[in-house]
Amino acid sequence: MSERTPNASAGRAAIAIALGALGLVGCALPGALRFQRAIEREGTIERTLGEGLRDLARSCDLCHGHDGNGASQYYPRLAGQPAAYLEAQLDAFAAGTRGAPQMQPLALSLTPDERRAISTYYASFAAAPNTGLAPAPSDPRAAELSRACTACHGSSFEGAEMPVRAPRLAGQGQEYLARQLVAFRSGARVDPAGTMSAIARSLGDREIETLADHLARR
Ligand code: HEC
Ligand code: HEC
Repeated sequence: MSERTPNASAGRAAIAIALGALGLVGCALPGALRFQRAIEREGTIERTLGEGLRDLARSCDLCHGHDGNGASQYYPRLAGQPAAYLEAQLDAFAAGTRGAPQMQPLALSLTPDERRAISTYYASFAAAPNTGLAPAPSDPRAAELSRACTACHGSSFEGAEMPVRAPRLAGQGQEYLARQLVAFRSGARVDPAGTMSAIARSLGDREIETLADHLARR
């Protein structure tokens, strides 16, 4: 990562010189301001993406695992999730629109650029198979029940950007999955489009258990 620094600094200097030559630096034209902000933003991301990002991730490892594959069935796995999904969740924790006592203070302590960088970092790890599950007989209704989820969560529950940005469910923590479905059903967690809440309201306790177990084993 360290070799990024000289190139990026040179890039910033080149943009600054170009702006200076055009007489735009310090001028109040909106275009020049946008350029200036872009230069500053590049600098912030550059700092965040260096060693600092690994340091930052150390504060997440305890619960999410050092490679984002979760410390237990209770905590969500972040590995292999769409980066934009993770970032949207961190923004929601910070804004208080998704309540989570363990996550809100952490999300609030991060700048928007740090939230984006750490999301990209965890999304880039491969999702490992969820091996921590006790053997259990599979419910014959599981495949049928989960078929309805593939429309948004992907044919192998790997997460998708279309038709909506939906997270990966395959290999996710079993207790975490069940808890989220219960939270959508009760209204404790509300998704932006309201679709998950509507779907969860149609599920009974037994169906939630079956789905969580089935998806955690994918
Ligand atoms: C003390 C444990 C703990 C630590 C440390 C922690 N988290 Fe979390 N995190 C959780 C829990 C618990 C949840 C699930 C909250 C819920 O039930 O809604 C969560 C949820 C998340 C989610 C949403 C996942 C999803 O699938 O929707 C993201 C993203 C996240 N954490 C990122 C981070 C990052 C980045 C850090 C480090 C800066 C971090 N967490 C540190 C416990 C922790
Ligand atoms: C119409 C699209 C759609 C369908 C169908 C759908 N989901 Fe979702 N689901 C979403 C979206 C979008 C989100 C992200 C919500 C957010 O941003 O808070 C989500 C989130 C979730 C989460 C939270 C995951 C996490 O990491 O926190 C779980 C669990 C979940 N869905 C389970 C299911 C199950 C089980 C089914 C099938 C019974 C299903 N979904 C069907 C769109 C859908």
